[in-house]
Amino acid sequence: MHGSRPDGRRGAGQVSLLAALVLLAIAALALDARGGIGLLGEQLALLRTPSFTVPDGWPQPVYDFRDNPITAAGFALGRELFYDPRLSRDGSIACASCHQQFAAFAHYDHPVSHGIGNRNGSRNAPGLYNLAWLPQLMWDGSAHNLEVQPLGPIANPVEMDARLPDLLDRLRADPHYRQRFEAAFGTPDIDSQRMLRALAQFTGTLLSADSRYDRYLRGDTDALAATEQAGLAAFRRHCSACHAEPLFSDFSYRDNGLDALPRDAGRATVTARDDDRGRFRVPSLRNIGLSPPYMHDGRFDTLAQVVDHYRSGVAASERVDPVLRGGLPISDAERSALLAFLNTLDDPAFTHDVRFADPARRR
Ligand code: HEC
Ligand code: HEC
Repeated sequence: MHGSRPDGRRGAGQVSLLAALVLLAIAALALDARGGIGLLGEQLALLRTPSFTVPDGWPQPVYDFRDNPITAAGFALGRELFYDPRLSRDGSIACASCHQQFAAFAHYDHPVSHGIGNRNGSRNAPGLYNLAWLPQLMWDGSAHNLEVQPLGPIANPVEMDARLPDLLDRLRADPHYRQRFEAAFGTPDIDSQRMLRALAQFTGTLLSADSRYDRYLRGDTDALAATEQAGLAAFRRHCSACHAEPLFSDFSYRDNGLDALPRDAGRATVTARDDDRGRFRVPSLRNIGLSPPYMHDGRFDTLAQVVDHYRSGVAASERVDPVLRGGLPISDAERSALLAFLNTLDDPAFTHDVRFADPARRR
């Protein structure tokens, strides 16, 4: 008789079933490592593919994935492209060089990011997460579409400095990429639209919504300590007029009083309106503790410096947003509570999510 025995030892039938399952799993892994898509390989890949779900209480995203449906192969291709330095002219700089996962995909410790040949850009690389909600991208809103945005850094002479036709030829010459494009889009053809769609399947699914703050809002009252809760209240008093929950931005362009005479034209670069000089998009504050330095030019190294700026450093200028004129009346107790609260926006589950990590490290 087969079947489980009262003494707990397994019958021969179960042992061989178990062995067959183990073998199948190994076969699936082997197929997957070679890039082949067996049925089980595909299912395992799906387990690693983030789905795009709108967290409770969040608005509808702006980027519409119905026009670019996320698939396991499309996401995997986008992830590979994001980490591949061959997207730059001399093969030295990947998107991930300036957008590092441990810093929520900002450029850690770089006031302004530097790219190819160590050339400096003029602005701080923002963290990449919840991008599908951004009505416009970049500090000045100069990019409108998540799918088209990568053409900027790829062509930018201080970032990746590549010519798109050269880059596409380089990908076409690589049998591995031809196979990856075929898996993602049905034929091995490689063109800019496919490359950009795959990249957007990666960048658009970088969802960060599992900080302690989020857990607190979902009803886990222990997720925030008393000081942190006081910090949330202070934040709602002083900061959320611009850094609106749950995305921590109202996506407007404002002057938060960094300089009386702005050096960077900011939003005016796009609109050419004098009023917009020195205005920048209100940035999200999620993962803020992980991505110093701060502001469009990375001028502040710590969050304490940022809060002190709002208390006593706001420039006296007509251009400064009315909410901030004369500085914010933040008490000493509020200052420390605010600093405690800001760190509850870190989302380690996001910055450690293996699905977003460098695929080369896994091999
Ligand atoms: C040399 C560093 C560098 C490289 C390489 C780079 N970026 Fe960026 N990225 C930046 C900087 C700096 C900004 C902000 C620029 C601005 O606002 O003017 C930015 C902005 C962005 C934004 C807008 C984020 C927001 O909040 O509006 C996205 C999306 C983005 N990059 C994706 C990419 C992708 C995809 C690649 C690869 C194709 C890439 N970046 C390569 C430095 C870099
Ligand atoms: C009037 C709107 C407004 C208010 C109120 C406001 N901010 Fe900001 N905040 C901005 C803008 C705009 C920027 C980007 C400015 C730039 O880089 O030029 C910014 C940038 C920041 C940054 C840097 C983010 C990064 O990624 O570099 C932090 C941190 C920050 N604010 C925290 C706060 C805190 C804390 C409060 C409340 C004490 C607050 N802000 C109140 C508009 C505002």
